[in-house]
Amino acid sequence: MIPRTHREVRLAARPVGFPKESDFRLVEAAVPEPSAGQFLVRAVYLSLDPYMRGRMSDARSYVPPVALGDVMEGGAVGEVVASSHPRFAAGDVVEGRLGWREYAVSDGKGVRKIDRAAGPISTALGVLGMPGLTAYFGLLEVGQPKAGETVVVSAAAGAVGGLVGQIAKLKGCRAVGLAGSDAKVAYLTEELGYDAGINYRTAPDLDAALRAACPEGVDVYFDNVGGRITEAVSRHVKTFARFAVCGLISQYNLTEPELAPRNERFVLVNRVRIQGFIVSDFAARYKEGLAQLTEWLRAGTLRYKEDVVEGLARAPAALIGLLQGQNFGKMLVRVGPDPAPTRAPAPEPRGDAGERR
Ligand SMILES: NC(=O)c1ccc[n+]([C@@H]2O[C@H](COP(=O)([O-])OP(=O)(O)OC[C@H]3O[C@@H](n4cnc5c(N)ncnc54)[C@H](OP(=O)(O)O)[C@@H]3O)[C@@H](O)[C@H]2O)c1
Repeated sequence: MIPRTHREVRLAARPVGFPKESDFRLVEAAVPEPSAGQFLVRAVYLSLDPYMRGRMSDARSYVPPVALGDVMEGGAVGEVVASSHPRFAAGDVVEGRLGWREYAVSDGKGVRKIDRAAGPISTALGVLGMPGLTAYFGLLEVGQPKAGETVVVSAAAGAVGGLVGQIAKLKGCRAVGLAGSDAKVAYLTEELGYDAGINYRTAPDLDAALRAACPEGVDVYFDNVGGRITEAVSRHVKTFARFAVCGLISQYNLTEPELAPRNERFVLVNRVRIQGFIVSDFAARYKEGLAQLTEWLRAGTLRYKEDVVEGLARAPAALIGLLQGQNFGKMLVRVGPDPAPTRAPAPEPRGDAGERR
């Protein structure tokens, strides 16, 4: 039964510094009606991602911001509940940029059908979705790791970082992760197979910790955070090191950018290549990336963790928490109940999927 009204979260104000709950507004609105060639999706999981902070701001970026008063942008997984679209039928489970809302209408652009045999449907927003593809292409294509090299990853226990270290290990590298709590560091080394982990918040001397964890220096740095962590890593690079700049989360909520890393000499002296990337640079190869990630997941080679909050109303607080490091694993919001099971159930994931709070 499709209700007449549903809830959606709109952008109420552009944040200054860290977002506040008052920058969002939870609104009751009419469920949209699909017209010819469209379909209606009931959301099951909404993905919360650091890039959303950028969409809340009107600073120039690689995509335009969310307009004030508009529904917040975001990827979601849901079930098609009505359709007059030739390729999507009621009962299909889909993933796409459906926004922070309980029901969404789509014409199919940018929406893909989920193979429910590949894994739990939430993985379409994590290991088998945008974060997985970011880790895969960012590390392998931008970082270009070779067996025997040392790969350092920041925000290493997160959705992207947790996968980068595991892929580095699959390629025969030494993997070293930085994370913001002892529990996250233990997860890196005890569950994900990282060779060493550093709690960057409590390490008394980050340089000494990096030196101990990377005795031969750093060949590849997968940078999720920027700022002082990147500056510290830059002091340990080897000749011809590669920096795959994936994200700068330590900078997203600053009103003035930090002046780190300050020492460009490390680039010249060590002939370091620093390259930023956006996952969509590899859009033409998503199929290949997803096939490999699915194979690794099904073989039990890749582990992942999810951090799930219940209910759309909790999405703003959860995004604010994510930007402060309170999430432990891929941050998801459960918006509605799972679709009815298919006859062939998805394989049980390895790892700690589906932590609820
Ligand atoms: N280039 C692309 O196409 C692309 C695509 C996806 C994601 N990204 C970027 O990749 C990064 C990770 O994204 P994700 O989705 O995997 O998120 P995530 O790592 O699951 O969550 C964000 C994590 O960032 C860390 N963090 C927050 N503030 C920090 C600070 N001031 N200094 C250091 N670490 C901080 C926290 O972990 P700790 O507790 O360890 O601090 C937090 O849990 C983000 O920068 C994101 O923007 C880029």
